[in-house]
Amino acid sequence: MAEMEHISSYETAVKISKKIEDDIVKNPSKYRVLTGDRPTGRLHIGHYFGSLENRVRLSKLGVSTMILIADYQVLIDRDAYQEINQNTKQLVIDYLAAGIEPSENVIIFPHSYVPEANQLMVPFLTLVSNAELSRNPTVKEEIQAAGLKSINAGMYTYPVHQAVDILFCKGNVVPVGKDQLPHIEMARTIARRFNEKFCAGKTPIFPEPQALLSKTPSIMGLDGTQKMSKSRGNAIMLCATEDETAALIKKAKTDADRHITYDPINRPEVANLLTLISLCTNEEPQKIAEHIGDGGGGMLKKMLTEALNEKLRPLRTRRTELEKNPEYIRQILLDGSQRAREIAAKTLVEVRTAMNTVI
Ligand code: TRP
Repeated sequence: MAEMEHISSYETAVKISKKIEDDIVKNPSKYRVLTGDRPTGRLHIGHYFGSLENRVRLSKLGVSTMILIADYQVLIDRDAYQEINQNTKQLVIDYLAAGIEPSENVIIFPHSYVPEANQLMVPFLTLVSNAELSRNPTVKEEIQAAGLKSINAGMYTYPVHQAVDILFCKGNVVPVGKDQLPHIEMARTIARRFNEKFCAGKTPIFPEPQALLSKTPSIMGLDGTQKMSKSRGNAIMLCATEDETAALIKKAKTDADRHITYDPINRPEVANLLTLISLCTNEEPQKIAEHIGDGGGGMLKKMLTEALNEKLRPLRTRRTELEKNPEYIRQILLDGSQRAREIAAKTLVEVRTAMNTVI
């Protein structure tokens, strides 16, 4: 039963997401997109095809786009904190290299630099119960995966902080993967309860944000069976050189059948490599498979290496340039933080007024 409820809420999310996808192209000014990443290291091609490309597309449509670096969240799910600042800067370099351009409409900032937003945490915590926090399925999985010596309270409460991330700037669309849906639901619940409790009979302060699910098929690692991730050692990093890319693809798993076909169920490894070529060239994976035919795994890998290196070449060139200019990267984060603070300060005034804490 629980599983069925889960599936039906997923299907609802998919439907809503498709509607937003259609509407956002027509009415970009109705939306504010808020996206976030934890600064845990450099990004790989799974991030690029699954999310960065989409952010660039949305921002080019003129949609207001807030790109949040969730540095506080890193404190929650790992003991290592020494590299947070370096990772934050590398993340910004990957964003900019991928084509995200900070502007009037596009703001990049770490959430720890927005004190006015963090002020919302306490009132938001009063709107949810302990029971709700401890049944969040994504949090449960992360607790299993984190291998922390003890579970800190931040682990249970970070979805509330994520609601702060989304709501301080009144984000109404959040591009995420399926695993983040429970967090979007939490943000919706908090927005609704805040409005009901503190804005009864008045204009509601917070929108109920919706998830925008990625249209890109999920990218498997080069082992073809698990999601691509740096920690699993199956990723191609955006910053890899062309030779490194070639060497990684050479080692990618395929299968014994020399004749290449696109069959995601029975031949997931081969299908994944075909999908990656398709993402680079916009050709259908079936067509690519037909073209390779008896050319075998060797030809498949050669095609992927060429397609990927060509696709990433401009990005990598920009990346190298950006690496040389750390002060520029820092300035982008400071400017972004300043803009985010102005937005958060306005919301805080509204929130204080609603809660009767204005003196
Ligand atoms: N929890 C998200 C992740 O692990 C990162 C994140 C933080 C986020 N704040 C957010 C995502 C707000 C979307 C919106 O990937």
